[in-house]
Amino acid sequence: MNNSVQKCDVLILGSGIAGLTFALKVASRGRVCIVTKKHRAESNTNYAQGGVAAVTSKEDSFEMHVRDTLDAGAGLCNEEVVRTVIEEGPARIAELIELGMRFTERETKMAAGGRELDLGKEGGHSKRRILHAKDVTGREIEKALLAAIAKRPAIEIFEDHIGIDLITSHKLGITGQNRCLGAHVLDKQRREVVTFHAGVVLLATGGCGKVYLYTTNPDIATGDGVAMAYRAGAAIANMEFIQFHPTCLYHPKAKSFLISEAVRGEGGVLKTIGGAEFMDATHPLKSLAPRDIVARAIDSEMKRSGADHVTLDITHKPARFTMERFPNIYATCLQYGLDITKVPIPVVPAAHYQCGGVLTNVDGETELAGLYAVGEVACTGLHGANRLASNSLLEALVCANRAAQSVLRSSVPSNKERIPEWHSGNASNPDELVVVSHNWDEIRRMMWDYVGIVRTDKRLRRAQARIANLQAEIQAYYWDFIVTNDLLELRNIATVVGLIIQCALERRESRGLHYNLDYLDPNPDWSKRDTIVRKIPD
Ligand code: SIN
Repeated sequence: MNNSVQKCDVLILGSGIAGLTFALKVASRGRVCIVTKKHRAESNTNYAQGGVAAVTSKEDSFEMHVRDTLDAGAGLCNEEVVRTVIEEGPARIAELIELGMRFTERETKMAAGGRELDLGKEGGHSKRRILHAKDVTGREIEKALLAAIAKRPAIEIFEDHIGIDLITSHKLGITGQNRCLGAHVLDKQRREVVTFHAGVVLLATGGCGKVYLYTTNPDIATGDGVAMAYRAGAAIANMEFIQFHPTCLYHPKAKSFLISEAVRGEGGVLKTIGGAEFMDATHPLKSLAPRDIVARAIDSEMKRSGADHVTLDITHKPARFTMERFPNIYATCLQYGLDITKVPIPVVPAAHYQCGGVLTNVDGETELAGLYAVGEVACTGLHGANRLASNSLLEALVCANRAAQSVLRSSVPSNKERIPEWHSGNASNPDELVVVSHNWDEIRRMMWDYVGIVRTDKRLRRAQARIANLQAEIQAYYWDFIVTNDLLELRNIATVVGLIIQCALERRESRGLHYNLDYLDPNPDWSKRDTIVRKIPD
């Protein structure tokens, strides 16, 4: 396999809101390279329907947003981080608008002809505070950021490139503080490994929804950043807290299509397939209760009735309103023969968001010098045991800005180390591809069945034994064969699955998104504890 070298000042893995915002802010530092697995706009951000939670209305306050975030987080949020992110939100939103982002507006009731931001509502929010662009907010944010990036010649985007591993001083045998020096990256088109030598590396690779059989996430969400950071020696925290979104479209031909929580925010009601409202008895906020509660209630209703889905009914709203407020959801469902203004939407819960990740402070700094992580890949302490809806794009904006300020403040070393070329196995045996696809399917089903919405120690231990075997098999396979995208992703999901199970077994309580039938209640001794794991050095 061929090798080539790229030298840059800043290397960014991932082209979602976190990576692009950071790139714009550090462009004055020198050459900035963004590596992205597919097309530049293909990111988790691109699929975000709901929006950005931020305090912009006179009827709202930082204090109320803080309170809602802490309540959702079930005692595990870092309050200082929560306050910082929420208080810095409006300034970051203003910058995004300045860049060209257009959030949906509506006519004000106060002054004739006046306009104001149209604020949406989602589960767990005590006020309307979600800024959105109809139901395609992420796509519009990506567009605005990419248009701004296109004007900055210092920023280059490498599409169809996937990170293999981070390069660290310890891996090179250099003693002293471990420092990130760059990354080996696979150029999928040319089938060559590129060694990126960088002063600073940002992980902005998003989450790991694809470790589960059913997910709202796109195919790229394979936990690459967490896996790479773990192998490089960084601390990983709270991976047991995987958020399941209650409403993913249930249709044999629809893959991973989210029905935004904003539909419930605008009055959508969850019902059994027989038409009964089953959230009334569960929580005072009914269909708009926090996500963990709604997802468990749906899971329990499906288990009770044996049905393979429940429904979300918005047919009582005027058809025109639904079509205008949710054009993407309306059009997509219609493609599958469902006119949501006339029939309830069949929905199931699906893996949606990774609340844990690479342990960072609010400036995105990891334990490894020179390595930053921002967005879903990171665990800053904002989300605690359960993320409040639409707080993630906010976190990405605020923490990307803070990480960039941290980089601009620090003197980035001009790395002089000689980085050895990448060595890969030479074998390429197409027959063995079946091993990759088999293991991939097996892992995702096992996670759904054993490490899903409701867990037990017995099922977690069974999953742990199985993943240990699979990891050993994948590792042996990995070193023998030429690296491919599928093999790299398989290796990453196997690593991340091991971390989720390890964290889940360590947390002997039920809290937020981690619900274990062997420990039904929260344990006060755990209330301020993160579950932190580090790789034992080889
Ligand atoms: C949604 O639109 O329901 C997703 C919002 C989020 O996950 O923050």
